[in-house]
Amino acid sequence: MSTFLADGFRSVDSSADTEKLGRCLSAMEDLADFRAYKQKSFEALNLRSDSDVADIACGLGYDLLKLRQLVPDGGVTGFDISEAFVAAARDLAASDESVRVVQGDVHEMAIDDGAFDGARTDRSLQHMEKPDVAVSEMARIVKQGGTVVAAEPDWTSYHLVSDNAEVSAVIEREFGSTIRNPAIGRQLVDLLGKQLQIGHHSVHPILLRHLPDAEIIFDITHSVQRCCDKQLITKDDGRAFLESLSRRSENGTFFALLCVHVVSGIKR
Ligand SMILES: C[S@@+](CC[C@H](N)C(=O)[O-])C[C@H]1O[C@@H](n2cnc3c(N)ncnc32)[C@H](O)[C@@H]1O
Repeated sequence: MSTFLADGFRSVDSSADTEKLGRCLSAMEDLADFRAYKQKSFEALNLRSDSDVADIACGLGYDLLKLRQLVPDGGVTGFDISEAFVAAARDLAASDESVRVVQGDVHEMAIDDGAFDGARTDRSLQHMEKPDVAVSEMARIVKQGGTVVAAEPDWTSYHLVSDNAEVSAVIEREFGSTIRNPAIGRQLVDLLGKQLQIGHHSVHPILLRHLPDAEIIFDITHSVQRCCDKQLITKDDGRAFLESLSRRSENGTFFALLCVHVVSGIKR
């Protein structure tokens, strides 16, 4: 069974194709809309040059290096449950001793209360069993006056344009319903607001106009296969759907859309 992106990130190390998950994260680094919302999530942390900041569920560690530039006199700690991703993040940051990477489950982090000035998480609460516990843990590890930032997609906003809107809707629903917490983006304000004072809130569209990018990020062919296997669409509909996407990609009428919410909460 090959890895489906919608649920592969729940348990990276036990997935059949860890590299596919890594390729998805790496591809985002080159896409302007991902860079834009990430930049906003860094700014929302309100860091000083000597802040200590944590990136919770840091994946391959790309954001650790960006955070490091914002805290030249402070420190950056990455945290992730996946041994494979922790190893990759340690390699990436090997030359900088102010960046450390810790392996563990965000639901019970072995980190002291108030250890950080800021903590962020990015597209990860969507995969967690208990996102409310994860947010409580993030609130616990920041100091009084510190900031927690979460950036999460709202999968009800996911749209794949095609020549058959009904098939698009089935594919979109299948991907969204496989994500553990598909509505987490629009729930962030309430989730953080339970224990933190909401500061920043912005919504960022991810608009992909090239099918190869959308394929890596949204696992489109795999989604179509799953819908065919589950008999949610016919094989002919699936084939025609993929053909219409290719045609659109060639003539410039293809797009895939997803909205990401960025929310910050201050610990009072
Ligand atoms: C979609 S990736 C996002 C990675 C990174 N934040 C980024 O923006 O590229 C989700 C990450 O959450 C991690 N993860 C999932 N469940 C976790 C948990 N319970 N505790 C810590 N990390 C977890 C995965 O290992 C994976 O690295």
